[in-house]
Amino acid sequence: MPNTIPFFKTTITSTEKVLVQDYLQSTDSASSKKYIELCVAWFKSNYKLEEFYLTKSCTHALELAALVADIQPGDEVIMPSYAFVSCANAFVLRGAVCVFIDIRPNGMMMDETKIEAAITPKTKAILTLNYAGVAQDYSVITAMAKKYNLLVIEDNAHGLLAKQNGRLLGSFGDISTFSFDHLKNITCGQGGGIAVNNLALLERFYLAYEFGTNRRSFFNHQANRYEWKAIGSNFPLSELNASMLYAQLLEGENINAAFVRGWDQYFSALKPLQQKGLIELPIVSNTDEHSGHCFYIKVKDKETRKALIDYLTEKDIIAQFHYVPLHSSEFGQKVGRFSEDDDFTTRESARLVRLPLFHSITAQEIDRVVQEINSFYQLV
Ligand SMILES: Cc1ncc(COP(=O)(O)O)c(C=O)c1O
Repeated sequence: MPNTIPFFKTTITSTEKVLVQDYLQSTDSASSKKYIELCVAWFKSNYKLEEFYLTKSCTHALELAALVADIQPGDEVIMPSYAFVSCANAFVLRGAVCVFIDIRPNGMMMDETKIEAAITPKTKAILTLNYAGVAQDYSVITAMAKKYNLLVIEDNAHGLLAKQNGRLLGSFGDISTFSFDHLKNITCGQGGGIAVNNLALLERFYLAYEFGTNRRSFFNHQANRYEWKAIGSNFPLSELNASMLYAQLLEGENINAAFVRGWDQYFSALKPLQQKGLIELPIVSNTDEHSGHCFYIKVKDKETRKALIDYLTEKDIIAQFHYVPLHSSEFGQKVGRFSEDDDFTTRESARLVRLPLFHSITAQEIDRVVQEINSFYQLV
């Protein structure tokens, strides 16, 4: 009986133990910010992000982004419906209306050409999602945002170290967010990050990030009182989590390379099935260096997807589907609306299957998944 190939295994390298142990043994563990500062320095030097901060999750970073963007009840935020629920909740928490945009027929990204028609006088921001670590077309999106004076909030949960035209994803938004949860390429168990790339937003950011207080100004001797100033929360990541995160950031390029290697192996091995018209492979534009965060195929329809996932499960291989479009839920309809027609979101998401891909997956395991997919197609 072959071993089960899980859908995902959390990335663990050899260095986390050493750095976490170092944190546990430090005499000033209650006040130390050594690893937080090392992580931030890593982002500043590798990412050239001037203002980067760690958060407890990407969900938190998105909620913080909504505060920093000063989203008010009735404001509208444009976003893909094919997205994680936190992308919408962050704004709904502030009373905003979600305006969902269809995805492109190729790939699973929001269709940039449909944004302009969705803009109204109430539109405040565009949320972009670099799905599977592949970039949106930021030349179109930033031009649109500039024309209508909108903020771009870039959800880069999937795209750490991925690039568009040589520029790192996570540097395109006025605010960009990151995830280091246990299902991401690089993880500290649960964690996130936020880059404030539009420096005009910094004042509001500082207040919201630290409990809604002027703590930062107070400690920098720019204020003589430490007081409550605005809505905020306890957003910063703990030093303990940061010690694990720093270990993985040091290995960041190698970790992503392992994901991309697995991704490339699936892509070449499954090409014959695409050539026979049985499946579709992901589309990555030539200008993108993606992160290999997830590998998906598209099958004929929802029924074929169920049959394939069931078949693979019988063979001890765990494959999964992904987001259920946000506008398809009762709650999504209450707090949002779909702009124009849903030509592709429902149809394409229903036929998407994600295959096992993780840092420690072996070439033999990927071969086994591909062989079983081939066997499935010999049977149908
Ligand atoms: C696109 C996207 N954004 C945000 C999140 C939330 O990330 P976190 O678990 O760090 O809150 C996820 C979670 O998978 C995600 O896929």
